[in-house]
Amino acid sequence: MPQRILVLLAHPARRRSRANAALTAAAAAVEGVRLHDLYEAYPDFLIDVEGEQALLLEHDVIVFQHPVYWYSSPAILKEWQDLVLEHGFAYGREGTALAGKTLLSAVTAGGTEEAYGPEGMNRHAITEFLRPFEATARLCRMRWLPPFILHGTHLLGPEALAERATDYAARLARLRDAVEA
Ligand SMILES: Cc1cc2nc3c(=O)[nH]c(=O)nc-3n(C[C@H](O)[C@H](O)[C@H](O)COP(=O)(O)O)c2cc1C
Repeated sequence: MPQRILVLLAHPARRRSRANAALTAAAAAVEGVRLHDLYEAYPDFLIDVEGEQALLLEHDVIVFQHPVYWYSSPAILKEWQDLVLEHGFAYGREGTALAGKTLLSAVTAGGTEEAYGPEGMNRHAITEFLRPFEATARLCRMRWLPPFILHGTHLLGPEALAERATDYAARLARLRDAVEA
């Protein structure tokens, strides 16, 4: 059975985006992937909690795709988590709606890999800054995968960007076909 994939995109200025625009276009072209642009759906941040929960139930793999903003995500993804991942739905004794599903973070960062190294200005790897998402997955009894990370967005030319977008699409296709462990 192919896995149903939901990509939740959180980019406040998609028309000015290079990296997420490239990743989004590649993801949307993968059969079985549904793209859901949170800023487009909720420009006023009034999130339809029931609608979002229903969407989650319809999918097996949830992808949080966004640029890294202040070592985290753009604000709407936090609002989405605060409202949608309710007690009794996503966590707690009765909250098993997401159990067994998979969570993948797919992020783009202005900082290079070196900048996120032990000697770099950010000191810690991106995976360390993504720990709250990893812990969220665990609390929701979801499987957490090694994140997809696109570093040094400002330095990437169109070809390198296209190459990484192809990598992203390939990873999503592997997840859809459940060949990625
Ligand atoms: C408000 C804001 C905060 C940012 N914070 C970070 C950050 O903490 N770390 C980082 O590596 N890049 C940071 N950046 C750079 C973005 O991650 C980068 O511009 C983005 O990933 C490029 O993707 P895009 O072309 O889809 O916009 C920030 C950019 C903005 C606008």
